Amino acid sequence: MSVQSQVRRKTAPDIRSRKGGDPIVMLTSYHAHTAALVDRHCDVILVGDSLGNVMHGFETTVPVTLEMMILQGRAVMRGSQHALVVVDMPFGSYEASKEQAFHSAVRIMKETQCGAVKLEGGVRMAETVAFLAERGIPVMGHVGLTPQSINTLGSFRAQGREEGTWEPIEKDAKAIAEAGAFSIVLEAIPAEVAKTVTAELTIPTIGIGASAACDGQILVLEDMLGLSPRVPKFVKRYGDLGPAIDRAVADYAAEVRERRFPAADNVYAIKPKRATAP
Ligand code: KIV
Repeated sequence: MSVQSQVRRKTAPDIRSRKGGDPIVMLTSYHAHTAALVDRHCDVILVGDSLGNVMHGFETTVPVTLEMMILQGRAVMRGSQHALVVVDMPFGSYEASKEQAFHSAVRIMKETQCGAVKLEGGVRMAETVAFLAERGIPVMGHVGLTPQSINTLGSFRAQGREEGTWEPIEKDAKAIAEAGAFSIVLEAIPAEVAKTVTAELTIPTIGIGASAACDGQILVLEDMLGLSPRVPKFVKRYGDLGPAIDRAVADYAAEVRERRFPAADNVYAIKPKRATAP
């Protein structure tokens, strides 16, 4: 007899069907504990390769490996129950060929049991997206600012702000949608471009720095909680956890130094011996 979970997770087709409906709520998570918190409120959890910046202190996402993504993808799957979990394909794991992308995506899906993968790039990745989608791998696209291309872009600036630079973004988004992606992230582009692209596509657009015209929104959890030292203009801080953590750690350090922690409540007492039957 098969053992099926009683809880039904959201699927890529569920998210696909939300085009033009209630906004899709999405956040990143890389750990079981934050995944459990995020899962209560979000439709989709992204195990983003931004974990390279947030967890590992890298300047860019370029050094992130498939192994890192799989490890944190497994943690997020264990911590969540309801949301669709999407795992980012890291730089170098999918660009060489559609076959390379397939093998990397299969590893991610088998080893994490997540529901979909995300990859960056427009027209140049369309053939790969089609190859994956036709073989049972739901793909979320990502166009506009694509941070994995930092070494050719030169900076993390918003894309499509100058007249005449919109067209490639529109073409990229269309190509990924037509290739069979179930949704697409639009990162750091002007509201007008996001509005046009969202109206043109039949799949949901998920904005990050791309205005409320999108079908959904995503932010990096640590950015919106106030834990990241530097954040882009498009981030709104919904919390300020940095000072709270600093206070807690300072209190702990002081109590340890003054031998006030651990106190009586935090230590084990010796159990009295149980009386034995005569
Ligand atoms: O890696 C990430 O967190 C992302 C989001 C910013 C969209 O790709």
